[in-house]
Amino acid sequence: ILIDNFVSECVFGKEIRELGSKWIPDLGQPIGILYCMRCECVPFQKKRRIVGRVQCYSIKEKCPVPTCDEPVLMPGRCCKTCPGDVGPDTVQDIIPQNVMEEDEKTSKHYAALLTGRSSLVLKNEFTKPLSDLNKSNVVATGRFTFHKKNLFYSFFISEKAARPHSLQFVDAQGNILEEFTLSTSGGFVNSVYQNASRKVCGVWRRMAKDYRKLLKQEKMYAVLVWGVKDQSEFTLSGQLMKYSALGTELMSSLLEPAPGSDSASMMGTGGTAIVSTSTSVTPSINVVIIFNGIFTPTEKEDIPVNVTLSIDEKKQIVVEETVRVAKPASDINVISISAIVTQAQLRYLTRGHMLLSISSVSKKEDLKLSGNVITKATCELFQSVLSSASPNANPEGVSGMAWFYINNAGSLIYNIQIDKLPPKENPPIVTLIDVSTKRKAEVEDLTSYFQGDGWANGTIDKLSPKVLDPLYKGDLFINVAMRGDNNIIRGKLVPKPVADARDSPAPILLKRENSSLSASVGGLVWLSVDNDCHLHYDVSLSGLGGDRKLELGLEMYPMIAPGAPFISRQLDQFQGNSLEGSTVEILAREEVNRLDNGVSLLKIKDQNTGGVLLMATVTKVPIPPACKPIIQQNSLIPLFYDSSDVITTVKCYFEEKFYDPETSWVSKNPCQMCFCQNGKTTCDMMTCPETSCTEGKMVQVDGECCPVCMNNTISSRDTNGQKCILNGKSYLPGTKFHPFFIPFGFDLCTECYCDPMDLEIRCRRLNENEKKCCKNCKKGFDINDPLSDDIDAPSVPVKNQGSEYAKKKDFAAKILAEGGCKNSFNPKKPFANGSEYHPFIDSLGEYKCVTCKCEKGTQTCKRQLCDMTTCRKMLDIKKRREKINQSDFCCTLKQCRKMRHKKKQNATS
Ligand SMILES: *[C@@H]1O[C@H](CO)[C@@H](O)[C@H](O)[C@H]1NC(C)=O
Ligand SMILES: *[C@@H]1O[C@H](CO)[C@@H](O)[C@H](O)[C@H]1NC(C)=O
Ligand SMILES: *[C@@H]1O[C@H](CO)[C@@H](O)[C@H](O)[C@H]1NC(C)=O
Ligand SMILES: *[C@@H]1O[C@H](CO)[C@@H](O)[C@H](O)[C@H]1NC(C)=O
Ligand SMILES: *[C@@H]1O[C@H](CO)[C@@H](O)[C@H](O)[C@H]1NC(C)=O
Ligand SMILES: *[C@@H]1O[C@H](CO)[C@@H](O)[C@H](O)[C@H]1NC(C)=O
Ligand SMILES: *[C@@H]1O[C@H](CO)[C@@H](O)[C@H](O)[C@H]1NC(C)=O
Repeated sequence: ILIDNFVSECVFGKEIRELGSKWIPDLGQPIGILYCMRCECVPFQKKRRIVGRVQCYSIKEKCPVPTCDEPVLMPGRCCKTCPGDVGPDTVQDIIPQNVMEEDEKTSKHYAALLTGRSSLVLKNEFTKPLSDLNKSNVVATGRFTFHKKNLFYSFFISEKAARPHSLQFVDAQGNILEEFTLSTSGGFVNSVYQNASRKVCGVWRRMAKDYRKLLKQEKMYAVLVWGVKDQSEFTLSGQLMKYSALGTELMSSLLEPAPGSDSASMMGTGGTAIVSTSTSVTPSINVVIIFNGIFTPTEKEDIPVNVTLSIDEKKQIVVEETVRVAKPASDINVISISAIVTQAQLRYLTRGHMLLSISSVSKKEDLKLSGNVITKATCELFQSVLSSASPNANPEGVSGMAWFYINNAGSLIYNIQIDKLPPKENPPIVTLIDVSTKRKAEVEDLTSYFQGDGWANGTIDKLSPKVLDPLYKGDLFINVAMRGDNNIIRGKLVPKPVADARDSPAPILLKRENSSLSASVGGLVWLSVDNDCHLHYDVSLSGLGGDRKLELGLEMYPMIAPGAPFISRQLDQFQGNSLEGSTVEILAREEVNRLDNGVSLLKIKDQNTGGVLLMATVTKVPIPPACKPIIQQNSLIPLFYDSSDVITTVKCYFEEKFYDPETSWVSKNPCQMCFCQNGKTTCDMMTCPETSCTEGKMVQVDGECCPVCMNNTISSRDTNGQKCILNGKSYLPGTKFHPFFIPFGFDLCTECYCDPMDLEIRCRRLNENEKKCCKNCKKGFDINDPLSDDIDAPSVPVKNQGSEYAKKKDFAAKILAEGGCKNSFNPKKPFANGSEYHPFIDSLGEYKCVTCKCEKGTQTCKRQLCDMTTCRKMLDIKKRREKINQSDFCCTLKQCRKMRHKKKQNATS
């Protein structure tokens, strides 16, 4: 699998290293740190792409000649040194990982105008000239937020264009620094947000230091590529530049050649606008326009352009201004206008009804760009953890979450979930509050949209500036109150860029797991799986306190059922109220399967106590098709794991329960017993041995397989409901049965009896069918052979043998008294205290697959697992064309073949 995400970085062990970093390799146990080696993540040119490569080298030969007679090797060093020497192996030289410059910690905003007139001349062999007029009129604009080494990107693209295939970040020479695939074939958009907003969103994580420098110096370009991979049909590019207006951007505009303009001269031109408003005293509007293309070739200096803002449906002009451009450039020109507007005009603006045009004064019809002022181009959502400000205000522990975003039509989409919602008769009042003003004005009431199932999903079409302004500024609170009460829970709507985990359809509410935890604690988590099968997570908490050491873990179950096996993944350790990250290794196939079809529990634990604080139940995490495992037949619950770092036990699922391997149990049908081997359940039905019941009646007891002969002897004994137990199954006193063994099922050649007198199980061999049942019987009568006599001792002792029998009986009693264990199959031969043995079954012989040990009167038996070593032995015998004695092995040949097949598959995948 190509790990596309990491090609511009280096992956060493389980760590990601940025380009230019240098480190001392630590190979972990048992090798440890190689102090004489250095590794570097070096850039490597691969066609137009710059990729990271790990290069390691020895520094031993660089060790200086020691200046003293007896140099010593200090711990953690490579070279032997003399006191006071400084060798080349000092650790200070290593470029540290994850070091941020101070000014990189705060967010920085960039924008780009992507048109056919970009100054970037791509050194790109596949770029074709813009011959298609339709395509050449495609314009795009990007917004970029650099935050903690990550560059979040957003694009608005002409509506007539399809979604581009990929996005590249390139340097001025046209080298590809990083590349992102934006759509799969067919242009299917997986993301709910990107589909609803018509934006392209994502993030370039962990930008290398050199690239951060390029960005800061405005020497980086974004290129959108259309067409199929390696056969691009069309590209648009633009330079990432800083504009101070981006910090207060409220709305944006994409300017395209206006209807009626001269398409030939407007080919490849376009613009974008950054629109901010002020609502404080008198409402005003500020527009920064970045554009090209409306100048004639002869216009060189101090050229006027006409900027107008009009209400589109009314054709009413709001602002008209002529601005002079000192030195028209063919790629990027920047102008700005400010104007005082009315509240009504501001409303038209926020509802997307304001048209912005910029035209040449000399050729005002031919050279003109226009576009509506619409939603801000940045991919952004607003989320909130809803919890009470004080624990006392919320005795029921009501909690919730919310997330909002603005769609392509400029409507506000909101989703609110409340856990432990008050009863229907007393619905909560949900309002949006602007806290930026002293009055704490209520700006919107969402109460009527609230549903009984804990969700309030809805749309506000006619967004007012009263909501939009505080929303983007982070001054909007959601307040959930009961009639009469002030509020139960509330939370601030925090703006967050949409990418990775936050680009999934919905976050998941984290619920309090420990009731002694304050009722003001709450949280939400976003989870997603990318095309390369990495899991991305994003956690926001409230009320836990910032210094607590926390841990994020995920348990993935095929389903929630008793004994269900789970794969546990420790995702991260953190402190504070938020965590954002992803797995370095890709998910195992089985993990993907469970996220897709199973149930997972996401847990926030306290690192010190290990106690679970918050938990979310996760189902249906969207899995991109590229990462989906191939569906196997009968894969209701495939329980095989295919990754070595995941537990390898294989449980069986049967009748809504999970069973450990090598265990047996009675199914819902009392005559059926099943066992589990390698994740597969095998069941066998028992046919009850014949019972002659004189002077009594046969009784079929509920829940028992075989009938019991109820005669005076049995019914007179009070067994207190006690039963005989053999191999995990219990039998009523007086029952006759065949014993059950893994993997052969019921041994029909042995008949056992649960003696009501002492609740002992007595078994005897059935010799009637020599051929079937006595494969391992030895010929002749041997008193020392446990096989040689029946458990049913002859009622009349045979002469000479009588004394032997008596002797044996004494001997057996002695062994038992010394802490020995009873032998169900031959009471005369109990097992001595401390002895180890294989059980002996007549029809099978010594049962080598099971080893028992007798300790102080208690017998414990263990089955060996069917493993590769056993299989190899079996296959060797088979190669020699000898007969395989099944009872010598714990596997069947069929299992071995399966195992071999499985191993091969893993090796190739
Ligand atoms: C441009 O697109 C329109 C419809 O969108 C189509 O009718 C026209 O043929 C196209 N022109 C070219 C040159 O492709
Ligand atoms: C994408 O958006 C359109 C309209 O905005 C909607 O009809 C469609 O169902 C959406 N598709 C997905 C996959 O969300
Ligand atoms: C500026 O543009 C507007 C609308 O496009 C137009 O009505 C107006 O006459 C233009 N003014 C000038 C001075 O060109
Ligand atoms: C609201 O939206 C969430 C997330 O998309 C969804 O799970 C839930 O079922 C919706 N509820 C209602 C009542 O529409
Ligand atoms: C709940 O938290 C308290 C205090 O933090 C702790 O003593 C207790 O063991 C926790 N209970 C559980 C079930 O984890
Ligand atoms: C009672 O039944 C048991 C088992 O079938 C048998 O061994 C025993 O002889 C019977 N007792 C009488 C008194 O019939
Ligand atoms: C059985 O053997 C163990 C040591 O294996 C010994 O400690 C114990 O006393 C013995 N039990 C009896 C009843 O002799």
